[in-house]
Amino acid sequence: MQSEKPFFMRDHWEYDPEAKPRPRADRRLGLSTRALHAGFHPLRDVAQFRSFVPPIVQSMTYPYECFDKFPDYIYGRSKTPTVSVLEERLAALEGGEACVTASSGSQALFNLIFTMARPGDNIVTSLHVFGEGYKQAATIFPERCHVTFRFVSDPADPKCWEAAIDERTRLVWVETPSNPCLFVTDIAAVAAVAHAHGAPLLVDNTTATAALQKPLELGADIILLSLTKFLAGNATVLGGAIVGPEALVEDIRWNTTEFVGAILQPFEAWLMLQYIETLTLRMERHSANAHKVAEFLARHPKVQHVNYPGLPDHPQRMLAQRQMEAGGGLLSFVVPGGMKGAAKVMDSVQLVVHAVTFGTSRTICMHPPTITHEHLTPEERAAAGIDDGLIRLSVGLEDPEDIIADLDQALARL
Ligand SMILES: Cc1ncc(COP(=O)(O)O)c(C=O)c1O
Repeated sequence: MQSEKPFFMRDHWEYDPEAKPRPRADRRLGLSTRALHAGFHPLRDVAQFRSFVPPIVQSMTYPYECFDKFPDYIYGRSKTPTVSVLEERLAALEGGEACVTASSGSQALFNLIFTMARPGDNIVTSLHVFGEGYKQAATIFPERCHVTFRFVSDPADPKCWEAAIDERTRLVWVETPSNPCLFVTDIAAVAAVAHAHGAPLLVDNTTATAALQKPLELGADIILLSLTKFLAGNATVLGGAIVGPEALVEDIRWNTTEFVGAILQPFEAWLMLQYIETLTLRMERHSANAHKVAEFLARHPKVQHVNYPGLPDHPQRMLAQRQMEAGGGLLSFVVPGGMKGAAKVMDSVQLVVHAVTFGTSRTICMHPPTITHEHLTPEERAAAGIDDGLIRLSVGLEDPEDIIADLDQALARL
Protein backbone atom coordinates (compact mmCIF):
# COMPACT_ATOMS: atom_id res chain seq x y z
CA MET A 1 0.00 0.00 0.00
CA GLN A 2 1.33 3.45 -0.89
CA SER A 3 0.94 6.14 1.75
CA GLU A 4 -0.97 9.38 1.05
CA LYS A 5 1.42 11.70 -0.80
CA PRO A 6 1.98 15.32 0.18
CA PHE A 7 1.29 17.99 -2.47
CA PHE A 8 4.98 18.56 -3.23
CA MET A 9 5.62 14.98 -4.30
CA ARG A 10 5.19 13.56 -7.79
CA ASP A 11 3.22 10.42 -8.63
CA HIS A 12 4.56 7.09 -7.40
CA TRP A 13 5.20 4.30 -9.86
CA GLU A 14 3.01 1.21 -9.45
CA TYR A 15 4.19 -1.98 -11.12
CA ASP A 16 1.63 -3.10 -13.72
CA PRO A 17 2.32 -6.61 -15.08
CA GLU A 18 0.11 -5.84 -18.12
CA ALA A 19 1.97 -2.65 -19.13
CA LYS A 20 4.23 -3.03 -22.19
CA PRO A 21 7.42 -0.91 -22.22
CA ARG A 22 7.39 1.87 -24.80
CA PRO A 23 9.61 0.72 -27.75
CA ARG A 24 12.66 2.91 -28.25
CA ALA A 25 13.02 4.76 -31.57
CA ASP A 26 16.73 3.81 -31.71
CA ARG A 27 16.17 0.08 -31.19
CA ARG A 28 17.19 -0.73 -34.77
CA LEU A 29 20.65 0.80 -34.29
CA GLY A 30 23.53 -1.45 -33.23
CA LEU A 31 24.90 -1.23 -29.71
CA SER A 32 28.22 0.31 -30.79
CA THR A 33 26.31 3.03 -32.69
CA ARG A 34 24.10 3.73 -29.66
CA ALA A 35 27.22 3.93 -27.46
CA LEU A 36 28.43 6.80 -29.69
CA HIS A 37 25.27 8.69 -30.69
CA ALA A 38 22.37 8.14 -28.28
CA GLY A 39 21.17 11.28 -26.53
CA PHE A 40 23.19 13.84 -28.50
CA HIS A 41 23.31 15.15 -32.05
CA PRO A 42 25.89 17.90 -32.63
CA LEU A 43 23.63 19.99 -34.91
CA ARG A 44 20.21 19.27 -33.46
CA ASP A 45 21.18 19.68 -29.77
CA VAL A 46 22.79 22.95 -28.65
CA ALA A 47 23.31 23.80 -32.32
CA GLN A 48 24.77 27.20 -31.43
CA PHE A 49 27.91 25.52 -30.04
CA ARG A 50 28.47 23.31 -33.11
CA SER A 51 30.23 21.00 -30.71
CA PHE A 52 31.07 17.50 -31.95
CA VAL A 53 31.32 16.37 -28.32
CA PRO A 54 28.39 16.86 -25.89
CA PRO A 55 29.28 20.00 -23.88
CA ILE A 56 29.78 19.99 -20.12
CA VAL A 57 27.05 22.25 -18.76
CA GLN A 58 28.53 23.06 -15.36
CA SER A 59 25.61 25.00 -13.95
CA MET A 60 23.51 24.06 -10.95
CA THR A 61 20.63 26.45 -11.64
CA TYR A 62 18.69 27.23 -14.85
CA PRO A 63 16.98 30.60 -15.30
CA TYR A 64 13.21 30.89 -15.74
CA GLU A 65 11.98 32.61 -18.92
CA CYS A 66 8.84 33.84 -17.18
CA PHE A 67 7.22 33.56 -13.76
CA ASP A 68 4.83 30.67 -14.35
CA LYS A 69 6.73 28.50 -16.84
CA PHE A 70 9.04 25.83 -15.39
CA PRO A 71 12.27 25.53 -17.40
CA ASP A 72 13.22 21.96 -18.49
CA TYR A 73 16.09 22.13 -16.06
CA ILE A 74 15.52 23.86 -12.75
CA TYR A 75 18.16 22.98 -10.19
CA GLY A 76 21.09 20.56 -9.96
CA ARG A 77 19.52 18.09 -7.55
CA SER A 78 17.01 16.77 -10.10
CA LYS A 79 18.65 16.89 -13.53
CA THR A 80 21.24 18.79 -15.56
CA PRO A 81 21.83 18.76 -19.35
CA THR A 82 25.10 16.78 -19.60
CA VAL A 83 23.78 14.20 -17.15
CA SER A 84 20.61 13.93 -19.26
CA VAL A 85 22.68 13.02 -22.33
CA LEU A 86 24.34 10.25 -20.31
CA GLU A 87 20.97 9.05 -18.97
CA GLU A 88 19.58 8.85 -22.50
CA ARG A 89 22.67 6.96 -23.66
CA LEU A 90 22.44 4.43 -20.83
CA ALA A 91 18.70 3.92 -21.47
CA ALA A 92 19.50 3.38 -25.16
CA LEU A 93 22.18 0.80 -24.39
CA GLU A 94 19.91 -1.20 -22.10
CA GLY A 95 16.87 -0.67 -24.37
CA GLY A 96 14.81 0.85 -21.54
CA GLU A 97 12.35 3.75 -21.51
CA ALA A 98 14.37 6.06 -19.27
CA CYS A 99 17.29 6.34 -16.84
CA VAL A 100 18.16 8.20 -13.66
CA THR A 101 21.77 8.36 -12.51
CA ALA A 102 23.16 8.48 -8.99
CA SER A 103 26.45 9.28 -7.28
CA SER A 104 27.39 5.57 -7.13
CA GLY A 105 25.95 2.15 -7.96
CA SER A 106 25.21 1.57 -4.28
CA GLN A 107 23.42 4.91 -4.14
CA ALA A 108 21.34 3.94 -7.19
CA LEU A 109 20.22 0.73 -5.44
CA PHE A 110 19.45 2.68 -2.27
CA ASN A 111 17.43 5.30 -4.19
CA LEU A 112 15.42 2.58 -5.94
CA ILE A 113 14.53 0.66 -2.78
CA PHE A 114 13.93 3.81 -0.75
CA THR A 115 11.52 5.03 -3.45
CA MET A 116 9.65 1.75 -3.96
CA ALA A 117 9.44 -0.02 -0.61
CA ARG A 118 7.36 0.87 2.47
CA PRO A 119 7.62 -0.45 6.05
CA GLY A 120 6.37 -4.05 6.09
CA ASP A 121 7.31 -4.70 2.45
CA ASN A 122 9.93 -7.27 1.48
CA ILE A 123 12.41 -7.72 -1.35
CA VAL A 124 13.43 -11.14 -2.61
CA THR A 125 17.06 -11.69 -3.61
CA SER A 126 19.95 -14.15 -3.11
CA LEU A 127 23.34 -14.08 -1.39
CA HIS A 128 24.91 -13.61 -4.82
CA VAL A 129 24.95 -9.82 -4.62
CA PHE A 130 27.73 -7.26 -4.22
CA GLY A 131 28.96 -6.50 -0.69
CA GLU A 132 27.45 -3.06 -0.14
CA GLY A 133 24.16 -4.31 -1.60
CA TYR A 134 24.17 -7.13 0.96
CA LYS A 135 24.86 -4.61 3.74
CA GLN A 136 21.89 -2.47 2.68
CA ALA A 137 19.75 -5.61 2.54
CA ALA A 138 20.89 -7.21 5.77
CA THR A 139 21.15 -4.16 8.01
CA ILE A 140 20.21 -0.69 6.77
CA PHE A 141 16.78 -1.32 5.26
CA PRO A 142 15.51 -3.88 7.82
CA GLU A 143 16.75 -1.88 10.82
CA ARG A 144 15.91 1.63 9.70
CA CYS A 145 13.00 1.25 7.28
CA HIS A 146 11.43 -2.09 8.30
CA VAL A 147 11.87 -3.39 4.78
CA THR A 148 13.09 -6.98 4.93
CA PHE A 149 15.12 -8.97 2.42
CA ARG A 150 14.70 -12.66 1.74
CA PHE A 151 17.77 -14.50 0.48
CA VAL A 152 16.60 -17.53 -1.49
CA SER A 153 18.42 -20.75 -0.57
CA ASP A 154 18.87 -22.11 -4.11
CA PRO A 155 18.92 -19.29 -6.67
CA ALA A 156 19.34 -21.83 -9.49
CA ASP A 157 15.81 -23.10 -8.83
CA PRO A 158 12.96 -20.77 -9.93
CA LYS A 159 10.67 -22.55 -7.42
CA CYS A 160 12.84 -21.24 -4.59
CA TRP A 161 12.32 -17.70 -5.87
CA GLU A 162 8.61 -18.35 -6.14
CA ALA A 163 8.39 -19.71 -2.58
CA ALA A 164 9.95 -16.53 -1.19
CA ILE A 165 7.55 -14.10 -2.93
CA ASP A 166 4.33 -12.99 -1.22
CA GLU A 167 1.84 -10.14 -1.51
CA ARG A 168 4.24 -7.72 0.28
CA THR A 169 7.10 -8.40 -2.17
CA ARG A 170 7.84 -5.08 -3.89
CA LEU A 171 10.81 -6.22 -5.93
CA VAL A 172 12.78 -9.29 -6.97
CA TRP A 173 16.50 -8.50 -7.31
CA VAL A 174 19.01 -10.60 -9.25
CA GLU A 175 22.69 -9.91 -9.87
CA THR A 176 24.02 -11.94 -12.79
CA PRO A 177 26.80 -12.87 -13.28
CA SER A 178 27.36 -12.15 -9.61
CA ASN A 179 30.27 -10.49 -7.89
CA PRO A 180 32.48 -12.25 -6.78
CA CYS A 181 31.52 -15.87 -7.62
CA LEU A 182 30.09 -15.34 -11.14
CA PHE A 183 26.89 -17.19 -10.30
CA VAL A 184 24.53 -16.98 -13.29
CA THR A 185 20.80 -16.64 -12.59
CA ASP A 186 18.17 -17.46 -15.21
CA ILE A 187 16.71 -14.01 -15.92
CA ALA A 188 13.76 -15.23 -18.02
CA ALA A 189 12.75 -17.90 -15.49
CA VAL A 190 12.92 -15.57 -12.47
CA ALA A 191 11.11 -12.83 -14.43
CA ALA A 192 8.26 -15.25 -15.19
CA VAL A 193 7.93 -16.23 -11.53
CA ALA A 194 8.12 -12.61 -10.31
CA HIS A 195 5.54 -11.43 -12.85
CA ALA A 196 3.15 -14.26 -12.02
CA HIS A 197 3.09 -12.83 -8.48
CA GLY A 198 2.79 -9.19 -9.55
CA ALA A 199 6.38 -8.20 -8.69
CA PRO A 200 8.88 -6.47 -11.02
CA LEU A 201 12.35 -7.93 -11.63
CA LEU A 202 15.49 -5.85 -11.06
CA VAL A 203 18.67 -7.15 -12.72
CA ASP A 204 22.06 -5.77 -11.77
CA ASN A 205 23.85 -5.68 -15.14
CA THR A 206 27.11 -4.25 -13.79
CA THR A 207 29.41 -7.20 -14.46
CA ALA A 208 28.15 -8.03 -17.97
CA THR A 209 26.99 -4.58 -19.16
CA ALA A 210 24.62 -4.14 -22.11
CA ALA A 211 27.50 -5.12 -24.38
CA LEU A 212 27.16 -8.75 -23.23
CA GLN A 213 23.66 -9.10 -21.77
CA LYS A 214 20.23 -7.48 -22.34
CA PRO A 215 18.13 -8.28 -19.27
CA LEU A 216 15.15 -6.17 -20.43
CA GLU A 217 14.86 -8.32 -23.56
CA LEU A 218 14.85 -11.41 -21.33
CA GLY A 219 11.93 -10.14 -19.24
CA ALA A 220 13.50 -7.93 -16.55
CA ASP A 221 11.75 -4.62 -15.76
CA ILE A 222 14.49 -2.57 -14.12
CA ILE A 223 18.30 -2.43 -14.48
CA LEU A 224 20.84 -1.46 -11.83
CA LEU A 225 24.27 -0.29 -13.01
CA SER A 226 27.46 0.68 -11.28
CA LEU A 227 29.05 3.06 -13.78
CA THR A 228 32.24 2.83 -11.73
CA LYS A 229 33.15 -0.57 -13.18
CA PHE A 230 33.30 -1.66 -16.86
CA LEU A 231 31.15 1.25 -18.09
CA ALA A 232 33.83 3.76 -17.02
CA GLY A 233 36.56 1.19 -17.44
CA ASN A 234 39.41 2.90 -15.64
CA ALA A 235 38.47 3.73 -12.01
CA THR A 236 38.27 7.50 -12.56
CA VAL A 237 34.52 7.96 -11.97
CA LEU A 238 32.14 6.80 -9.25
CA GLY A 239 28.55 6.61 -10.49
CA GLY A 240 25.42 4.53 -10.75
CA ALA A 241 22.14 4.34 -12.64
CA ILE A 242 18.68 2.84 -12.75
CA VAL A 243 17.12 2.13 -16.16
CA GLY A 244 13.44 1.21 -16.43
CA PRO A 245 9.89 2.51 -16.95
CA GLU A 246 9.81 6.30 -17.24
CA ALA A 247 7.25 6.60 -14.42
CA LEU A 248 9.58 4.74 -12.04
CA VAL A 249 12.61 6.77 -13.13
CA GLU A 250 10.74 10.05 -12.54
CA ASP A 251 9.43 8.75 -9.20
CA ILE A 252 13.04 8.15 -8.08
CA ARG A 253 14.24 11.46 -9.54
CA TRP A 254 11.57 13.72 -8.06
CA ASN A 255 10.63 11.88 -4.86
CA THR A 256 14.08 10.80 -3.66
CA THR A 257 17.15 12.17 -5.46
CA GLU A 258 15.73 15.70 -5.73
CA PHE A 259 15.23 15.78 -1.95
CA VAL A 260 18.62 14.42 -0.94
CA GLY A 261 20.86 15.43 -3.88
CA ALA A 262 22.15 11.90 -4.52
CA ILE A 263 23.12 12.76 -8.09
CA LEU A 264 25.91 12.44 -10.61
CA GLN A 265 27.75 15.71 -11.37
CA PRO A 266 28.10 17.08 -14.96
CA PHE A 267 31.85 16.54 -15.27
CA GLU A 268 31.62 12.90 -14.17
CA ALA A 269 28.73 12.41 -16.63
CA TRP A 270 30.81 13.96 -19.41
CA LEU A 271 33.74 11.66 -18.66
CA MET A 272 31.36 8.69 -18.69
CA LEU A 273 30.10 9.72 -22.13
CA GLN A 274 33.67 9.58 -23.48
CA TYR A 275 34.37 6.20 -21.88
CA ILE A 276 31.14 4.55 -23.02
CA GLU A 277 32.08 5.23 -26.65
CA THR A 278 34.51 2.29 -26.47
CA LEU A 279 32.40 -0.03 -24.27
CA THR A 280 31.67 -2.69 -26.89
CA LEU A 281 35.31 -2.87 -28.02
CA ARG A 282 36.58 -3.07 -24.46
CA MET A 283 34.11 -5.77 -23.40
CA GLU A 284 35.19 -7.95 -26.32
CA ARG A 285 38.83 -7.67 -25.28
CA HIS A 286 38.08 -8.07 -21.53
CA SER A 287 36.14 -11.25 -22.34
CA ALA A 288 38.77 -12.69 -24.67
CA ASN A 289 41.54 -12.00 -22.13
CA ALA A 290 39.53 -13.33 -19.16
CA HIS A 291 38.76 -16.50 -21.09
CA LYS A 292 42.46 -17.15 -21.68
CA VAL A 293 43.34 -16.39 -18.05
CA ALA A 294 40.49 -18.60 -16.77
CA GLU A 295 41.71 -21.50 -18.93
CA PHE A 296 45.24 -21.04 -17.62
CA LEU A 297 44.05 -20.99 -13.99
CA ALA A 298 41.79 -24.01 -14.50
CA ARG A 299 44.82 -26.02 -15.70
CA HIS A 300 47.13 -24.80 -12.93
CA PRO A 301 47.94 -27.44 -10.28
CA LYS A 302 47.97 -24.86 -7.45
CA VAL A 303 44.46 -23.58 -8.23
CA GLN A 304 41.61 -25.44 -6.56
CA HIS A 305 38.69 -23.91 -8.38
CA VAL A 306 37.90 -21.23 -10.99
CA ASN A 307 34.60 -19.35 -11.36
CA TYR A 308 34.15 -18.11 -14.92
CA PRO A 309 30.93 -18.46 -16.96
CA GLY A 310 32.89 -19.26 -20.15
CA LEU A 311 34.58 -22.40 -18.75
CA PRO A 312 33.11 -25.81 -19.62
CA ASP A 313 32.75 -26.81 -15.94
CA HIS A 314 30.86 -23.67 -14.87
CA PRO A 315 27.58 -25.03 -13.40
CA GLN A 316 25.40 -22.63 -15.45
CA ARG A 317 27.51 -22.65 -18.62
CA MET A 318 24.60 -23.43 -20.95
CA LEU A 319 22.47 -20.74 -19.35
CA ALA A 320 25.35 -18.26 -19.62
CA GLN A 321 25.67 -19.10 -23.31
CA ARG A 322 21.95 -18.45 -23.79
CA GLN A 323 21.71 -15.14 -22.00
CA MET A 324 25.21 -13.68 -22.48
CA GLU A 325 27.25 -12.93 -25.59
CA ALA A 326 30.59 -13.72 -23.90
CA GLY A 327 31.88 -14.52 -20.42
CA GLY A 328 32.92 -10.98 -19.44
CA GLY A 329 36.08 -9.69 -17.77
CA LEU A 330 35.53 -10.84 -14.20
CA LEU A 331 36.52 -14.17 -12.68
CA SER A 332 37.47 -15.57 -9.30
CA PHE A 333 39.58 -18.51 -8.17
CA VAL A 334 40.43 -20.39 -5.00
CA VAL A 335 43.98 -21.14 -3.91
CA PRO A 336 44.99 -23.62 -1.19
CA GLY A 337 45.85 -22.39 2.30
CA GLY A 338 42.78 -20.16 2.81
CA MET A 339 43.53 -16.56 3.74
CA LYS A 340 47.31 -17.16 3.98
CA GLY A 341 47.40 -18.70 0.50
CA ALA A 342 45.42 -15.79 -0.96
CA ALA A 343 47.69 -13.26 0.79
CA LYS A 344 50.80 -15.00 -0.57
CA VAL A 345 49.57 -14.85 -4.16
CA MET A 346 48.25 -11.30 -3.89
CA ASP A 347 51.48 -10.04 -2.30
CA SER A 348 53.50 -11.73 -5.07
CA VAL A 349 51.84 -10.27 -8.16
CA GLN A 350 53.87 -7.56 -9.88
CA LEU A 351 51.82 -6.45 -12.90
CA VAL A 352 48.39 -7.18 -11.42
CA VAL A 353 47.34 -4.48 -8.95
CA HIS A 354 45.77 -5.28 -5.56
CA ALA A 355 42.89 -2.79 -5.30
CA VAL A 356 39.16 -2.55 -4.58
CA THR A 357 37.21 -2.26 -7.79
CA PHE A 358 36.81 -4.12 -11.07
CA GLY A 359 36.20 -3.42 -14.74
CA THR A 360 39.40 -1.41 -15.18
CA SER A 361 41.68 -1.44 -18.20
CA ARG A 362 44.44 -2.67 -15.86
CA THR A 363 44.12 -6.09 -14.21
CA ILE A 364 43.14 -5.95 -10.55
CA CYS A 365 42.92 -8.57 -7.80
CA MET A 366 40.97 -8.35 -4.54
CA HIS A 367 40.11 -10.61 -1.56
CA PRO A 368 36.29 -10.68 -1.16
CA PRO A 369 36.09 -12.52 2.22
CA THR A 370 37.92 -9.67 4.00
CA ILE A 371 37.21 -6.61 1.84
CA THR A 372 33.72 -6.67 0.31
CA HIS A 373 31.84 -9.67 1.77
CA GLU A 374 33.14 -9.57 5.31
CA HIS A 375 29.67 -8.78 6.74
CA LEU A 376 28.21 -12.12 5.62
CA THR A 377 28.10 -14.75 8.37
CA PRO A 378 30.54 -17.65 7.85
CA GLU A 379 27.54 -19.83 6.92
CA GLU A 380 26.33 -17.27 4.36
CA ARG A 381 29.83 -16.98 2.90
CA ALA A 382 30.00 -20.76 2.56
CA ALA A 383 26.56 -20.85 0.89
CA ALA A 384 27.67 -18.13 -1.54
CA GLY A 385 30.93 -19.96 -2.36
CA ILE A 386 33.13 -17.26 -0.80
CA ASP A 387 36.02 -19.40 0.41
CA ASP A 388 38.82 -17.83 2.51
CA GLY A 389 41.20 -18.62 -0.35
CA LEU A 390 39.03 -16.84 -2.96
CA ILE A 391 40.72 -14.17 -5.09
CA ARG A 392 38.65 -11.99 -7.42
CA LEU A 393 40.42 -11.08 -10.64
CA SER A 394 39.24 -8.33 -12.95
CA VAL A 395 41.06 -9.10 -16.17
CA GLY A 396 42.23 -5.98 -17.96
CA LEU A 397 43.20 -5.05 -21.49
CA GLU A 398 46.90 -5.91 -21.26
CA ASP A 399 48.43 -8.59 -23.50
CA PRO A 400 47.00 -11.76 -21.96
CA GLU A 401 50.39 -13.54 -21.97
CA ASP A 402 51.71 -10.90 -19.56
CA ILE A 403 48.80 -11.32 -17.13
CA ILE A 404 49.25 -15.09 -17.24
CA ALA A 405 53.02 -14.86 -16.69
CA ASP A 406 52.50 -12.64 -13.65
CA LEU A 407 49.92 -15.00 -12.12
CA ASP A 408 52.16 -17.96 -12.90
CA GLN A 409 55.12 -16.53 -10.98
CA ALA A 410 52.84 -15.52 -8.07
CA LEU A 411 51.24 -19.00 -7.87
CA ALA A 412 54.72 -20.58 -7.94
CA ARG A 413 55.35 -19.01 -4.51
CA LEU A 414 52.62 -21.10 -2.89
C1 LIG B 1 27.51 -5.91 -9.13
C2 LIG B 1 27.66 -4.57 -8.48
N1 LIG B 1 26.64 -3.71 -8.49
C3 LIG B 1 26.72 -2.51 -7.90
C4 LIG B 1 27.87 -2.11 -7.23
C5 LIG B 1 27.93 -0.77 -6.55
O1 LIG B 1 28.66 0.11 -7.31
P1 LIG B 1 29.47 1.39 -6.74
O2 LIG B 1 30.82 0.90 -6.33
O3 LIG B 1 29.49 2.29 -7.93
O4 LIG B 1 28.69 1.93 -5.60
C6 LIG B 1 28.97 -2.97 -7.19
C7 LIG B 1 30.19 -2.59 -6.49
O5 LIG B 1 31.08 -3.37 -6.29
C8 LIG B 1 28.86 -4.23 -7.83
O6 LIG B 1 29.87 -5.11 -7.81
